[in-house]
Amino acid sequence: MDILISIGMAFLWAFWIMIPAYIPNPAAALIGGGTPVDFGKCAKDGRRILGDGKTWRGLIGGILVGVIFGLVQMVLVDYFQWDFLPKHTIITICALATGALLGDMIKSYYKRRLGKERGAKWPIADMYDMVVGSLVLMVFALLVTGNIGWFAENFDSVWFLLGTFAAILILSPLLHRGTNIIGYLLGLKDVPW
Ligand code: CTP
Ligand code: MG
Repeated sequence: MDILISIGMAFLWAFWIMIPAYIPNPAAALIGGGTPVDFGKCAKDGRRILGDGKTWRGLIGGILVGVIFGLVQMVLVDYFQWDFLPKHTIITICALATGALLGDMIKSYYKRRLGKERGAKWPIADMYDMVVGSLVLMVFALLVTGNIGWFAENFDSVWFLLGTFAAILILSPLLHRGTNIIGYLLGLKDVPW
């Protein structure tokens, strides 16, 4: 029984921690458009650097919406004293939201180098770009600001930390796929991935 509760908690924590990283991509799909981040320029291989799927409006708007969700999470945990949830900080939410879309852009860069068109499928990369980008930037931001103790303050054991990480790896592709299918059904996305 205890193990089931621990697994459930790991998934709850994974979800709560990753909300500021999960939001920017669908938000960018909703509000994106206009000037592309690469300003329409091509790389040496003659293909676009990033492509028309990466726009300034999507990038900045997506990060802002992700940060706003994170701020709401911080207020909720504080106000209702939800001690069973991890505590986001300005650093974690900003790094997660920014890292998610940076990871997405880095993926697009390599997608274009491989000759894949905008919106083409690239299974593993499409699923984990945002996870890798957001978590790497979060750890980096916590390190350089001297706040790496955030992990010790929020996780009472290494096992629970590893379990939460595993839950993030399982949950992320499921949510990614789920939101993309919803976006496709609502006519917001051209393809269901
Ligand atoms: N979007 C945006 N700016 C971003 C990221 C996304 O405007 N920085 C918008 C674009 O309209 C994009 C949509 O969100 O088409 C879906 O994002 P995504 O699936 O990441 O882009 P793709 O169009 O699939 O392009 P790519 O092949 O480069 O991944
Ligand atoms: Mg895509």
